[in-house]
Amino acid sequence: MSFDQLIDRRSTFSFKWERYKGKDILPLWVADSEFKCAQPIIDALHARTEHGVYGYHLPVEYEPANQAVVRWLADKHDWQIEPQWIVWTPGVVPAFNVACKANCEPGDKVLVQVPNYPPMLAAPGLNKLIREDVQTIEQDGRWKLDFEQLEQKAADPKTKLFIMCNPMNPTGSVMTAEELTRVEQICLKHDVVLCSDEIHCDLILDQSKTHIPAGKLPDIGERTITLMAASKTFNVAGLGTSFAIIPDASLRRKFTQAAAGIMPWVTFMGLVATEVAFTQCDEWHQEQLDYLRGNLDYLEKEINDLDGFTFIRPEATFLAWIDASGLGVDDVHAYMESKGVGPSPGRDFGWKNFTRINFACPREMLEDAVARLKR
Ligand SMILES: Cc1ncc(COP(=O)(O)O)c(C=O)c1O
Repeated sequence: MSFDQLIDRRSTFSFKWERYKGKDILPLWVADSEFKCAQPIIDALHARTEHGVYGYHLPVEYEPANQAVVRWLADKHDWQIEPQWIVWTPGVVPAFNVACKANCEPGDKVLVQVPNYPPMLAAPGLNKLIREDVQTIEQDGRWKLDFEQLEQKAADPKTKLFIMCNPMNPTGSVMTAEELTRVEQICLKHDVVLCSDEIHCDLILDQSKTHIPAGKLPDIGERTITLMAASKTFNVAGLGTSFAIIPDASLRRKFTQAAAGIMPWVTFMGLVATEVAFTQCDEWHQEQLDYLRGNLDYLEKEINDLDGFTFIRPEATFLAWIDASGLGVDDVHAYMESKGVGPSPGRDFGWKNFTRINFACPREMLEDAVARLKR
């Protein structure tokens, strides 16, 4: 597989490319990659397509996909789960919205870290709940949660749920064992349910970091909802398939009851892709990580050479969260677009002077983006 291959997506109505259709702006926003997915996934989808009958498939009975998740988590995250803990969801976004419905009554409060992925910021409001923001602070060149604020806001008896994103989007931090222990203690002390979006957990770029799933935490793990998917890592997000791991039976029942009648089963194509991604693509996964590390090195160096930007290197994800306040412009996003580059606007995540660049693309495309910013 050559990650250098430029693939024209303009004919495919891709969300990322449609925004700048007909404009000379390089799309570097939506968090999918420009890479063709691993050949075993393409072959398996092809074979399944050829079968020609596309009826209903109950995900819980699709044993190879369930076993693939069990294998992947044991192998990559040293987390031994039972297959019955898996709840398939047609996306991580619907899953954290269901977590809101399942664990809160109207008027309750939900903690969300800021900056954060916009649908996560929106989830409490969509469910008639009050969002309480927990800020992110910089310490020793990395981003971390403001634990004092977390503790203070968790102590409010109205606070029922903390939806967290680890590794963090957009800042790219991988929470340390010590940080997770603090989250664990705070949630336990104040009886707050922890729902952890770990969709980026297989994209750890800093080799000195280890991802620890929330469900593995010794004291609260049983009572957590951990959300994961093959979608980001293997570029199969369009197949709408992800899963929640909920070890505790009553929490799991609450979740599935809140989802009943609203959340469809995941597609069998998504199950096929997940099964193959998690059993036959280890080598491709490692190669992609190496390629992304190379892209990150390149981007970091180039952005640091430009005036007006400050770059804190992400530990994970293929997203660079860049401080553009040094530009001194009112509208950072308009500035980026005027240069012919289309990142995600920082304001959508809660911090308007930042910009988020998706660097999961062939090096040539990233070089083009940098050249545009330089001109
Ligand atoms: C943190 C995070 N959660 C969830 C999603 C989307 O998940 P899904 O497509 O499975 O709903 C994204 C996509 O960018 C994301 O970055």
